[in-house]
Amino acid sequence: MKVLGILGSPRVGGNSDLLLDQALAGASDAGAEVEKIKLVQKKISGCLDCAKCNEAGVCAIKDDMQAIYPKVLEADAIIHSVPTYFWAMTAQMKAYLDRWCAFFDAQWKWHKHVYPKMKGKKIGLITVCGDPNVHTADPIVHSFKTTTEFTKLKWIGAVMASASARGDIAGNEKAKKEAYDLGKKAAEK
Ligand SMILES: Cc1cc2nc3c(=O)[nH]c(=O)nc-3n(C[C@H](O)[C@H](O)[C@H](O)COP(=O)(O)O)c2cc1C
Repeated sequence: MKVLGILGSPRVGGNSDLLLDQALAGASDAGAEVEKIKLVQKKISGCLDCAKCNEAGVCAIKDDMQAIYPKVLEADAIIHSVPTYFWAMTAQMKAYLDRWCAFFDAQWKWHKHVYPKMKGKKIGLITVCGDPNVHTADPIVHSFKTTTEFTKLKWIGAVMASASARGDIAGNEKAKKEAYDLGKKAAEK
């Protein structure tokens, strides 16, 4: 069982990073092999809609996403963790997510070589926002949940938390427990 964590915050050691670590600890304690990718340390362009991937399922943009595609395919579960920037996900996370385009054909069906790997993959999400109302991050949940459901992946839930300064979330035991439990759920067979 492999659980991949994708960090969409540019603030390494920040709130979504800390919660992602909790989730990966939960997955690891449940016996999963875990890996974390910090998108801010990668060079990832947005999708160019060049449609070159429609035929072969290979993205034409030669950047760091090329090394991430196989990790996405091989993972049994992926937990994305991202702060809210202007009522939306960060640019780093959006560029990564848009590049999933290469997995689909022109009819938005999984490419044949991709389908067996993606089928049944579990997708989870962690959001952090400065607003005390965690539902400020609802548009991010909508984006990931709808993508998951549209593509027939398995949605395992979202942990939504509030924090502003770097590391403030460390004092939020409820959010840390929820993130840990999300990781455990990701690691379940
Ligand atoms: C550019 C920018 C935009 C932000 N926009 C919002 C927002 O729309 N709503 C909100 O509640 N918090 C917003 N925040 C606050 C962050 O979501 C908050 O500080 C969060 O804890 C950062 O998480 P991190 O430590 O994982 O980077 C914004 C922060 C930045 C830097």
